[in-house]
Amino acid sequence: MKGIVLAGGSGTRMYPSTLATSKQLLAVYNKPMIYYPLSVLMLAGIREILLISTPPGVAALRTLLGDGSALGLSLSYAEQAEPRGIAEAFLIGEGHIAGDDCALILGDNLLHGAGFPELLRTTREQLDGCTLFGYPVSDPQRYGVGEVDATGALVSIEEKPLRPRSDNAITGLYFYDRDVVDIARDITPSARGELEITDVNLAYLKQGRARLERLGRGFTWLDAGTHDSLLAASQYVQVIENRQGVRVACLEEIALRMGYIGVEDCYRRGADMRNSEYGQYLMVIAQSIA
Ligand code: G1P
Repeated sequence: MKGIVLAGGSGTRMYPSTLATSKQLLAVYNKPMIYYPLSVLMLAGIREILLISTPPGVAALRTLLGDGSALGLSLSYAEQAEPRGIAEAFLIGEGHIAGDDCALILGDNLLHGAGFPELLRTTREQLDGCTLFGYPVSDPQRYGVGEVDATGALVSIEEKPLRPRSDNAITGLYFYDRDVVDIARDITPSARGELEITDVNLAYLKQGRARLERLGRGFTWLDAGTHDSLLAASQYVQVIENRQGVRVACLEEIALRMGYIGVEDCYRRGADMRNSEYGQYLMVIAQSIA
């Protein structure tokens, strides 16, 4: 399975903070926002990942993450010059997907909860068509909304409905089988001029091959696309990390625990950043596993 992180958009809602940098490089508490979605793909066992961003965004992401070898990943980059919609990721990424299954995650989504790595692995293994994740929110009209029947089967999906049929927002993490590129090629731009991910999901739903995995109330899904939501996400990470003494979305730790890198690699990365608390954490983790 291949992975894509879509980190596009010019971040106009966050001007002036994003005039000189991408939104996905702003910090969520103590690390760049992009670490959080990237950690999700890594926990799903995906190592070949395409990062899509604006031309300056690609340059900055490349400086941050390089070819991914320090994390035991194979990272590649592609540009989305104009915000033409989430579903365009599959057209831009067609060569990367190369007929494989694909997981897509939006670059400002933070997902965190007990049992999540196992859920990601079973979702991947049992994939048939597409799997979406639903999360109860107080403002579903801001999102794609999924409605399920009494048996838990997905029956409708609506993009930003004025009168939502449920409180199940569809998160920015999506798993698709190899048909996704053909499906994305068939859809047409919406009224806002974008290739909507909801239209891709509706095509799978029409084929009876769309599943909604509901994330319970003990799970956390946040997006960090506004100043307030960015601050809320930072505060969430700060509370969890300081309470538990662990790090959320620490990419080197995940790479080490997944067996993508060795103890020495992790320690060296930590030593390179030893002035920061993140670097010191890496050194401690490497020593505790060695
Ligand atoms: C997009 C999708 C929407 C989804 C949301 C998740 O919304 O269109 O279905 O619920 O991401 O973050 P947008 O960010 O384009 O408003």
